Amino acid sequence: MILRLERVEHLPSGWLWLILSQADGSLMPMMNPGQFVEVGVDRSEVLLNRPISIYNRTDRTLELLVAPIGRATKALRDYEAGDTLRVIGPLGQGFRSDFAPGSKVLLVGGGVGIAPLYYQACELVKKGVETEVIFGMRTAPDQAIIDRFAEVCDIKVCTDDGSAGFHGLVTAHPDFGKAKDYIQVCGPKPMMKACLKDAVSRGTEGEVSLENMMACGLGACLCCVEKTVKGNVCVCKEGPVFKFDQLTW
Ligand SMILES: Cc1cc2nc3c(=O)[nH]c(=O)nc-3n(C[C@H](O)[C@H](O)[C@H](O)COP(=O)(O)OP(=O)(O)OC[C@H]3O[C@@H](n4cnc5c(N)ncnc54)[C@H](O)[C@@H]3O)c2cc1C
Ligand code: FES
Repeated sequence: MILRLERVEHLPSGWLWLILSQADGSLMPMMNPGQFVEVGVDRSEVLLNRPISIYNRTDRTLELLVAPIGRATKALRDYEAGDTLRVIGPLGQGFRSDFAPGSKVLLVGGGVGIAPLYYQACELVKKGVETEVIFGMRTAPDQAIIDRFAEVCDIKVCTDDGSAGFHGLVTAHPDFGKAKDYIQVCGPKPMMKACLKDAVSRGTEGEVSLENMMACGLGACLCCVEKTVKGNVCVCKEGPVFKFDQLTW
């Protein structure tokens, strides 16, 4: 797809919030929360597309939340409204969402791993699922991100430096241990491992969304392989979302 940037917000943390539409005016394809797109950043010297989660999707727009950390994502800072991007997707398998109304689901995001959880929170709330988010960051996150979640569901913030919300790790937050029917996590691997270990010890099922390095995004290059109970699988095709009991962590 060729997508046109409708708006680019430079958030105080340096993160980018991109709002895109189809350059030819057509509707955005259906996308499930937890799926991702591969973005071609032609203005960087990077040849390979980069995987970016679906932050939100409407019939007319796709939203992405990007932490500029490397060559491609930093080059995105130079894009403005009216510019276009090559985007492939949606790709991969998203989060489970077939919960009964009234079930309690906890979404845990670490850093830019919060990105796929907004669309998921919106879908769960629409289904009558009691949804709570715990968002862990090194330092105070962008208020715009918190405010947006807060319009949809309960959100708690944890920071490593105590500059906002609860001072400590997401797994130490008092709400983390409260009884839930399911937990869905996206963030740095050590955080996801800690969440999985804690939840499993309490008999709570859940899923994690892996952010392995990717190249083709289509299951062809094998650079994103993860060891699972079924053997080595491509995260881009079989994931990025995996149930706790599928992983060998
Ligand atoms: C499914 C999925 C969804 C994602 N969603 C988002 C999102 O919504 N928002 C977002 O900001 N990011 C997201 N990411 C992460 C993003 O795709 C990566 O950080 C990407 O590499 C950034 O590209 P870059 O060119 O800017 O940085 P790169 O140049 O790729 O560098 C990124 C970091 O990785 C290190 N690195 C580079 N190559 C390797 C390698 N081969 N092995 C190990 N480390 C390496 C670099 O040193 C640097 O610290 C997602 C990743 C996946 C897999
Ligand atoms: S990124 Fe190429 S196989 Fe997954």
